[in-house]
Amino acid sequence: MEPVIAAHADWVGEALGIELMTPSSQSLARRLYRALRGWIQSGRLASGSRLPSSRRLARDLGVGRNTLLEAIEQLVAEGFLETRPGAGTFVADLPFGRGEAVSEAAPSEAPEAALSARGERLLRFCASPGDHHAAFAPGVPALDRFPHELWQRLLKRHQRDAPEAWLDYRTQGGVTALREALCDYLRLSRSVRCRPEQVLVVQGAQQGFELIARMLSDPGDVAWLEEPGYGGAQACFDAAGLEMVAVPVDGEGLDLKRVPPGQAAPRLIYVTPSHQYPSGVTMSLPRRLALLEAAETHGAWIVEDDYDSEFRYGQRPIAALQGLSEAARVIYVGTLSKVLYPGLRLGYLVLPEALVAPFRRANARLHREGQYAVQAALAEFIAAGHFSRHVRRMRDCYRQRQALLRRALAPAVARGLALSEGQAGMHLVAWLDDRDIEQALVRRAAEQGIGLSPLSGYYLTPPGRPGLALAESRDRAGAAETPRDKHV
Ligand SMILES: Cc1ncc(COP(=O)(O)O)c(C=O)c1O
Repeated sequence: MEPVIAAHADWVGEALGIELMTPSSQSLARRLYRALRGWIQSGRLASGSRLPSSRRLARDLGVGRNTLLEAIEQLVAEGFLETRPGAGTFVADLPFGRGEAVSEAAPSEAPEAALSARGERLLRFCASPGDHHAAFAPGVPALDRFPHELWQRLLKRHQRDAPEAWLDYRTQGGVTALREALCDYLRLSRSVRCRPEQVLVVQGAQQGFELIARMLSDPGDVAWLEEPGYGGAQACFDAAGLEMVAVPVDGEGLDLKRVPPGQAAPRLIYVTPSHQYPSGVTMSLPRRLALLEAAETHGAWIVEDDYDSEFRYGQRPIAALQGLSEAARVIYVGTLSKVLYPGLRLGYLVLPEALVAPFRRANARLHREGQYAVQAALAEFIAAGHFSRHVRRMRDCYRQRQALLRRALAPAVARGLALSEGQAGMHLVAWLDDRDIEQALVRRAAEQGIGLSPLSGYYLTPPGRPGLALAESRDRAGAAETPRDKHV
């Protein structure tokens, strides 16, 4: 109870001050009386709360102490307040509320949520509150395997040693050590062309997509997106007012020959070439070259989302599309959400030189930079080799889990179930012949408390090809507690 009382003592003076700012024909004492009585009756000032001393209150409010005492004495006389000699003035023990928070307005009085048309449309890409995708929900790493203790130690040290400059507003694109570490990693393991100056640290890939859409397109511009594709990117581009054109994906990735005819030239082209989400396809070299050429022809920017390329089993990692292009029309988007954990909210863009300064400025204005100590801890995590060790461990773990899932599905495969090819990533796609079967499986699983992700959720123009995206990365216990976005 103590903290509630102390908190009340703090806000009463400020709240009364605000009350007195409104012009009124009533006397000051009357207004103070009415405000205090209203708060007691509504339960905002709970039974047992102690008021600040009348001397302090009068001084804070800039009113005479006698004026204040007049209001308080009236409330004491009516039984709302009681004075305890030597202790102060307290809210009497009344049935209006005993310290529990009381909402300002009853739900029935709350205004209706009048969302904008954009807000309403955006919700189509978002989970409903009760949606829980459990064991097979794609997109989330095995969180129980993250080296929490080591990470906490690094975090604590970097928080403690944070220089004063990190407390300020900054526009450097992120902590230098992290931009350097990421740059080394990307050059070596992903063949990305970059200098540390080109790296802009953002709060996850999602924020990167938003920034790209806002900085490089106007409402009504066209964006080409993979079909089926990633709901997070679809939501961002839709919210930015882009005309989204779904371009089908086949066994070689995005098929430009199937761009619907009669479309304006694209401004943005969003792709996941290393491991198409969700189909798992790797974009072939001819398709990559065709895509780069198309971007050049249309003056479009390619958004390369390289979200989980660390996890390839058997095959050699595929170099990033960005590294293939001299022409600098590719913005490379990376995330730490898969390789470390999504709650970290760290991702990065590798920007063509011409975009570095405008993106830094806009990011610092729209989203603000921050989390420098976390960034510094991550830089050390990478530089000291913990990152690559963790990646190796997780690669082993997901390879084994994927093999297990394939083994478990082998009887169904023998009966004709088609599983996504390739040995990569943290999920598989099971293609089904029939939408009814897909829906029946989703229902049956839900009855057992298991969430399944039907492929229709990944299509901009549903229903699309029936199937399920099945993650193998999570254990059931950990997953069940986590509410998830619809098409993560
Ligand atoms: C295809 C794809 N890209 C990017 C992301 C990562 O997004 P973020 O960095 O915002 O967590 C995800 C996460 O689910 C994803 O599936």
